[in-house]
Amino acid sequence: MTLLQVNQVSFSFNSKKLFKAKNQTNKVLNEISFEIEEGTCLGLIGTSGAGKSTLGKIILGIQRPQQGQVLFQGYDIYSADKATQQKIRRDLQVVFQDSYSAVNPRMTAERIISEPLENYEKLTIAENRKMVIELMERVGLSEKDLIKYPHQFSGGQLQRINIARAIALKPKLIVLDESVSSLDMVTQSLILELLRELKDDFGLSYLFITHDIKAAFSISDQIGVLEKGELVELYDSKDQFFSSKHPVIKRLRDSILAEHPRFRTITTKVNWVNTTKISRQS
Ligand SMILES: Nc1ncnc2c1ncn2[C@@H]1O[C@H](COP(=O)(O)OP(=O)(O)OP(=O)(O)O)[C@@H](O)[C@H]1O
Ligand SMILES: [Mg+2]
Repeated sequence: MTLLQVNQVSFSFNSKKLFKAKNQTNKVLNEISFEIEEGTCLGLIGTSGAGKSTLGKIILGIQRPQQGQVLFQGYDIYSADKATQQKIRRDLQVVFQDSYSAVNPRMTAERIISEPLENYEKLTIAENRKMVIELMERVGLSEKDLIKYPHQFSGGQLQRINIARAIALKPKLIVLDESVSSLDMVTQSLILELLRELKDDFGLSYLFITHDIKAAFSISDQIGVLEKGELVELYDSKDQFFSSKHPVIKRLRDSILAEHPRFRTITTKVNWVNTTKISRQS
């Protein structure tokens, strides 16, 4: 079943120029359309400034697009009635890149994870605590971590707390905006493994926003490529991505380093027009 439908979404920022008579508009997204099926992950790859986070905010209901529609379970998230919007807010969660700035430094882990439960569920203190302990354990932390403050956790552990908070209300879709990008490779792969497990256990869907092709491929069922506000390609499989002739995809593909240095290539700009490939052969 289709969970999310993005139909012909366009978005521009208004930039007010001090010394110009007219305000200028900066088009960031141009007629973007795609769907996410229940229980699947769409990886959205793109270089910096492509419009990925803006699209994420539009889907989360934070930034209303000037054109197009975002339908969640068939409801337009910007024109649904209040009760439906509240239900959608519960079913749509987010995990950002910077795990520290996403949490209140004065709150313990218990309070951070409790927040959505207190807002939406009417639980007793004992029920709430039981639920928070279950969530902590589900993301690989333990009961003794409940009393700790954000500065007492590593970046990876804190991202686990952000994930626990995001899954607390059993949402249907989580927008992961560069959620593993600032972590070291080992922690990154552990968090990706956790996200894959949670996806299977709870039937979650993800919009996995990243500039990291490897991370996207390790978790996604479909891959979309965003470039300068255009969704240039949408693939149902990795094979399609790797055989694509699209110049943007080719450039992204070339940026993946081979596992062994012998097979790596470096693209060096020699002048404004030509590019030369230097192969490292030993
Ligand atoms: N609040 C804002 N006001 C004006 N322009 C903005 C604003 N936020 C983003 N932009 C512009 O919109 C474009 C897309 O930004 P966005 O943050 O969506 O890119 P991104 O793909 O997420 O990049 P990154 O990979 O660096 O996070 C950029 O050109 C950016 O400068
Ligand atoms: Mg971004």
